[in-house]
Amino acid sequence: MRGVEVSVLIPAAGNGERLGLGPKAFLRVGGRTLLEWALEAFREAAEVLVALPPGAEPPEALRATFLEGGRTRQESVARLLEAASLPLVLVHDVARPFVSRALVERVLEATRATGAAVPVLPVPDTLVRPEGEGYGEVVPREALRLVQTPQGFFTALLREAHAYARRRGLAATDDAQLVRALGYPVALVAGERTAFKITYPEDLTLAEALARAWNV
Ligand code: CTP
Ligand code: MG
Repeated sequence: MRGVEVSVLIPAAGNGERLGLGPKAFLRVGGRTLLEWALEAFREAAEVLVALPPGAEPPEALRATFLEGGRTRQESVARLLEAASLPLVLVHDVARPFVSRALVERVLEATRATGAAVPVLPVPDTLVRPEGEGYGEVVPREALRLVQTPQGFFTALLREAHAYARRRGLAATDDAQLVRALGYPVALVAGERTAFKITYPEDLTLAEALARAWNV
């Protein structure tokens, strides 16, 4: 990552309610916290900003600037964006510890070329819209993609998208949808199955196994 022009923004202010083990930033996988995994993945970045849960003690000896997150992911990212000082941003969930150098490079390259880029994956399972408790209409999975992070943007564009969302009262689970709401295209690059988001307790078992195989 030739990182001189990139601010890495890490929303890490969630409480990890579905996992039930406290804020994921401080959750240990393979002997290090998810925050440490994220900082390792972006160790070459010129600037790294991290939003932590209100009241959380910023860990010592980690190379990053810490600030207080908001009530939602969107608010946390908005605060990080205000503090960003470089022309590109990469927004990455702390809940995704396994992000390869190749994935970061793919996102960055497309971001430099287009201004907005996100990694996506095909959907491996059959998708269905339930009818009550029963099996309803199948949704063609070929038409759909799973969206991951890191997501890359021109900093000015993402700021404009967040300001627009605030004015319109839009709520989003990622940043690309806010850029789309503004009417700006978002490029898709190939994601990675290993960059999955640790969300449920079973994911932690998978993450522990993967941590053993992941050489950093
Ligand atoms: N996040 C944040 N600020 C919030 C809520 C979420 O920075 N107020 C971050 C999380 O720390 C995480 C990312 O957004 O890195 C994706 O969120 P998710 O996986 O939903 O994590 P949590 O919100 O912590 O988990 P849950 O929804 O189960 O409580
Ligand atoms: Mg959440």
